[in-house]
Amino acid sequence: MNILGIETSCDETSGAILRNGHVCSSVISSQLCHTSFGGVVPELASREHERLIVSIVDAAITEANITKNELDAIAATAGPGLIGAVMVGLSFAQGLAWALGIPFVPVNHIEAHIFSPFISEGACHRAPEGCFVSLTVSGGHTLLSVVEPDLSYTVVGRTLDDAAGEAFDKTGKMLGLPYPAGPVIDKLAEQGDPSFHLFPRALTSRSQSSKSWLGNFDFSFSGMKTSVLTWLQRQTSEFIEFHKADIAASIQAAIVGVLVEKSMAVVRSRGIRALSIAGGVSANSALRNAMQEACDREGVTLYLPKTLYSTDNAAMIATLANLKISRGMKAECHYNITPYASFAAAKR
Ligand code: KG4
Ligand code: ZN
Repeated sequence: MNILGIETSCDETSGAILRNGHVCSSVISSQLCHTSFGGVVPELASREHERLIVSIVDAAITEANITKNELDAIAATAGPGLIGAVMVGLSFAQGLAWALGIPFVPVNHIEAHIFSPFISEGACHRAPEGCFVSLTVSGGHTLLSVVEPDLSYTVVGRTLDDAAGEAFDKTGKMLGLPYPAGPVIDKLAEQGDPSFHLFPRALTSRSQSSKSWLGNFDFSFSGMKTSVLTWLQRQTSEFIEFHKADIAASIQAAIVGVLVEKSMAVVRSRGIRALSIAGGVSANSALRNAMQEACDREGVTLYLPKTLYSTDNAAMIATLANLKISRGMKAECHYNITPYASFAAAKR
């Protein structure tokens, strides 16, 4: 069974082939045309996907040592994402599936992130057995969900404003770092002191005097973002330049601290012994380390995607399609894109 996965929801054009549940090729091209704008420009993203889609899919098929006639199904991101960007991959995938006479499987981008820790490359196959708690943290989403063995899930917490990745990117921009600033802050923070400045941690035990935060699994990062901005405005540019690594480490500590506290609170409250982190921010080394320490302390198994599969990729799209097909889900012949911004909001 060869499944072609296609991902074009934001600024990565990606194609992957999954054979019998294992990844045989994964091609990811990250768009560099947005760097000078400090964020993704939707129209540029769509045009870049259009320019690259044929060669990326071709490369994925060639790398897997097959021809397109050996494909059994095609899966593509059907949202959420930038609508024009999603439409490029979705239309291409449906056109190819129709031309080859094979099934098409629409995949929800956030759900694909949730299952990305279980992408198999052959040797390291780890199927989720019981329930697990998933922290999905990307540039557009931050949500905590409880995932059942039948792939269904319930969102128990989400951001009320900015996503964690957005908090990294926007505070990084204030520090003069290029887009996306998340990985740059991660690297810079290695040389910094995370206790240099205490930025606020909203809706946590630290920020609430009463116990009202207990059982509140929502996040809020906009206050922290404003606090970084006003604090930076009070410093000289020499001071900021000299302490850039310390400031980056302090910002990272504030974001990571909240993510760990809330995830462990869900694990504890639900009595679930497995936790996974997925989405672009799951590549963050401080988050990985802090979450691993917290899980070790409480005897919880932590599942992490390979860093290659933390950010957007087509292997996760093909993997979720495979899980759905193996659980009897019928593939569709035609799928219309839904212009929703947040699947999490729709599910809640
Ligand atoms: O999942 P993703 O590739 O795209 C979305 O679906 O949004 O996530 C991109 C986000 C960006 O905000 C980026 O700054 C962040 O993930 N990111 C990181 C790291 N690598 C990517 N944030 C912190 N540390 C990293 N190492
Ligand atoms: Zn994503």
